[in-house]
Amino acid sequence: PPLNSLINLDDFEQVAEKNLPVNAWAYYSSAAEDEITKDENRHVFRKVYLRPRILRDVGDIDTSTSILGYRCSLPVFVCPAAMAKLAHPDGECAIAAAAGHEGLIQVVSTSSSMPIHSVMKARIREDQPVFFQLYVLKNLERTKAMIRLAEEAGMKALWVTVDSPVIGKRERDERVKAAIQITDQAGSVRKGQEVQGIARTMSSVITPRLSWDDLKWIREMTSLPLVIKGIQTVEDAILAYQHGVTGIVLSNHGGRSQDTTQPPLLTLLEIRKHAPFLIGGKMEIYLDGGIRRGRDVIKALALGATAVGLGRPFLYSLCGYGELGVRRMVSILRDEVVTNMALAGVRQIQEITPDLVNASKLQRD
Ligand code: FNR
Repeated sequence: PPLNSLINLDDFEQVAEKNLPVNAWAYYSSAAEDEITKDENRHVFRKVYLRPRILRDVGDIDTSTSILGYRCSLPVFVCPAAMAKLAHPDGECAIAAAAGHEGLIQVVSTSSSMPIHSVMKARIREDQPVFFQLYVLKNLERTKAMIRLAEEAGMKALWVTVDSPVIGKRERDERVKAAIQITDQAGSVRKGQEVQGIARTMSSVITPRLSWDDLKWIREMTSLPLVIKGIQTVEDAILAYQHGVTGIVLSNHGGRSQDTTQPPLLTLLEIRKHAPFLIGGKMEIYLDGGIRRGRDVIKALALGATAVGLGRPFLYSLCGYGELGVRRMVSILRDEVVTNMALAGVRQIQEITPDLVNASKLQRD
């Protein structure tokens, strides 16, 4: 269908389901086991009500903010996601160009299907910031080489993903035999084995032995700001803070790791309740999973998030349309953020405060 006939993020998902090869659709859309967490990530936003304020002159809305000191046009970033090439031959490069045009920061995955230097080249300006997501591999030397590569390529932060010491059991993905060649950023080429899905094939290179102590050598190696992705409890948010990280991502990997883990929005509420000093403090707190509407972005920010990430929508919008699809998807989201800010009576991101939402239904649950 023509791009301008798609008017919300779900439309892109439906088009992707129809048009992606079966293995790609299974890999992108699947989540662990019964996919309960994947659904909850999204549905939890329904339980938070908005409390719009009136008569506040919302003639000028400014959605811009910054992440780790880098300006972006929306409090939204591109989540690291593997294998964008399954959706479109331009893969992560098309996302880089789209992110540049739309003023968003892209976090490039360790398992990017395109080399880092190509992704960096696809940016629209020299100073367009890009971050690197790191999986610590069983092969330590290769891991260190990746960090150096990311630094040399000019990437501006290191996001270490910690929620996948082993891979989740993604049944829909496993059912589709991964008889395709997979090349990951680490440079290893592996052939998909029968009964293993794409995810399992790739994860066999990631170490299950990562621990808090490892943050030390990572920090000694690089001066890039360190973000830990995959925090799911207030306890670990506090530990991350004590380890001096610059930011954390509250995330359950889009429901792809462990099923029936809580939605990140509930982790944020735990932090509000038990460690409020972490919010608005020195550590930036991001959140991803199930964000599909502009109003979801506003709710997460009201409850204390600095910014939010989207994963699947970038892959779905890439499918069939490439860079233009991604740009259209972002502009729809932007439009929803602007409309919802105006309707809620806020003009700037800083005005999105806790009184903008009623989360009592969540707290009772
Ligand atoms: C991911 N995610 C992910 N995360 C990460 O740190 N490194 C990675 O390589 C990947 N790869 C990946 C592939 C695919 C196909 C998906 C859908 C997700 C997780 C991703 O960064 C993010 O946490 C979730 O996608 C957020 O949930 P939504 O927005 O997809 O609901």
